[in-house]
Amino acid sequence: MKNTPFDLTGKVAVVTGSSRGIGRSSAELLAKLGAKVVVSSRKADACKEVADGINAAGGDAIVVPCNIARKNEVEGLIADATRHYGKIDILVCNAAVNPYYGPLLDITDEAFDKIMGSNVKSNIWLSALAIPQMAERGNGSVIIISSIGGLRGSTVIGAYGISKAADFALCRSLAGEWGPKGVRVNCIAPGLVKTDFARALWEDEAMLKRRTATTPLRRIGEPDEIAGAVAYLASDASSFMTGQTIVIDGGVTTAAV
Ligand SMILES: NC(=O)c1ccc[n+]([C@@H]2O[C@H](COP(=O)([O-])OP(=O)(O)OC[C@H]3O[C@@H](n4cnc5c(N)ncnc54)[C@H](OP(=O)(O)O)[C@@H]3O)[C@@H](O)[C@H]2O)c1
Repeated sequence: MKNTPFDLTGKVAVVTGSSRGIGRSSAELLAKLGAKVVVSSRKADACKEVADGINAAGGDAIVVPCNIARKNEVEGLIADATRHYGKIDILVCNAAVNPYYGPLLDITDEAFDKIMGSNVKSNIWLSALAIPQMAERGNGSVIIISSIGGLRGSTVIGAYGISKAADFALCRSLAGEWGPKGVRVNCIAPGLVKTDFARALWEDEAMLKRRTATTPLRRIGEPDEIAGAVAYLASDASSFMTGQTIVIDGGVTTAAV
């Protein structure tokens, strides 16, 4: 990808929740495109396996563990990444939680606060810590992994959907505030992707059958199919794009039912 707008040589990327799933695929692809990558999740061992793989393949990755629900750990992530690599050019706010399945009005305050704290407030913390240094250099890209759950209603994951819809609004406002300084902020909204996060949805055969029947591509997604869009948004290939959302869902939100 050298000498193409997708080349990330010299760039530094922080990817939350990159020990597995979409975050891992994204970290690995960003590294392949030349970025130095900070691999992060709550579990250092799982991150180390990812970073070791990147380094063994000739890339450059370090591990900084961080629970995105804890402000001191988010501060530590951005500080350690900046100390080690000197800067952050690409921030991928990927980690999120969904501790509650059920009717929206039955959710406890604790579960609701946990969802909003990890899926929205932590993205504000990460952005507040990383964007000003990007703005100083006049260049940076923030990518928030939202969900099609933020685009449509759900009878079981309504609170999660509220948090993911909030991410779209967060992205648009940050894009407006920081665009004049050269920092772009975009969202990706995946549909159902085969990861641990969504295991309850794709392991249920009846549910999977219903879902794929209403999905034009007749299948669910793989993490690598989201990573390509992360790489696009991270790179100069998307240099005129900000405040937007890329929906990657096999067409399910566009399908006639
Ligand atoms: N899979 C889907 O169908 C789907 C659809 C739409 C959107 N998404 C979004 O895609 C993103 C990634 O999900 P995924 O499907 O790739 O999930 P996944 O495979 O379960 O991976 C989640 C990652 O986040 C980390 N993580 C979990 N809680 C964390 C916390 N509190 N602090 C820091 N890291 C944490 C996990 O590692 P540790 O356990 O080590 O912390 C892991 O690295 C999420 O924002 C999710 O909402 C997923």
